[in-house]
Amino acid sequence: MRRPLVAGNWKMNGSRAANAALLAELELRVKPQWPIDIAVFPPFVYLAEARRALEDGPIAVGAQDVCAEASGAFTGEVSAAMLQDIGCRAALVGHSERRHWYHEDDALVARKFAAALSVGLMPVLCLGETLDERESGKTEAVVGRQLDAVLALNGIERFVTAVIAYEPVWAIGTGRTASPDQAQAVHAFIRRRIAEQNANIGGQLRILYGGSVKAGNAADLFAMPDVDGGLVGGASLSADEFYEICAAAAARH
Ligand code: 13P
Repeated sequence: MRRPLVAGNWKMNGSRAANAALLAELELRVKPQWPIDIAVFPPFVYLAEARRALEDGPIAVGAQDVCAEASGAFTGEVSAAMLQDIGCRAALVGHSERRHWYHEDDALVARKFAAALSVGLMPVLCLGETLDERESGKTEAVVGRQLDAVLALNGIERFVTAVIAYEPVWAIGTGRTASPDQAQAVHAFIRRRIAEQNANIGGQLRILYGGSVKAGNAADLFAMPDVDGGLVGGASLSADEFYEICAAAAARH
């Protein structure tokens, strides 16, 4: 059985005071015995402090991005080794906001995936189509292309410790959630694509849904057979909402 994962991507939000309050509240409320993994993804500058606040509790810390290069003259960048050094366990790669605003292409995303794995960070590979692409019937072509680029560079075996997040761009921050059936269809497509290369890895791979996940819709999304949790943006900034989403994942089976 795949263990659900609920990941909170804070994006460029937060402050030392707000983060401390949010994490303290979550630590108090989430149950260590829940059969799920929980992670938060604060902005880089707050990672070390978040890690200290959470110590070895049930909530892991991950980064929202990672540099594809190992070290050296790359001003402004943060390497996978540095993230690992301060206790991060995961890194998002290829979030649609990185692809859109910072022009990250499939090839760069594939290298970031490799960089994360090279030091034992769990890459959370984000895939998703725009509204135009969906409406012109290209969802599978786009998601398949994004996935194939990472498979081609890294190989199927590297997906053993990876997670995929399907995040339709049109559902991010819009309040417009993919329906459970829409999410399930793309998740099943992704899993089939992986399983074609390795049935075991396809069966074990966790595929999260992201895009306006909230306390009110989480249970219906998580009830779908190929939805193994969520990558939560806006709602992860509220302790109440994020807690409820985690509780929905814990109640999944
Ligand atoms: P929202 O939950 O705010 O739509 O964001 C989703 C997302 O991009 C998480 O990475």
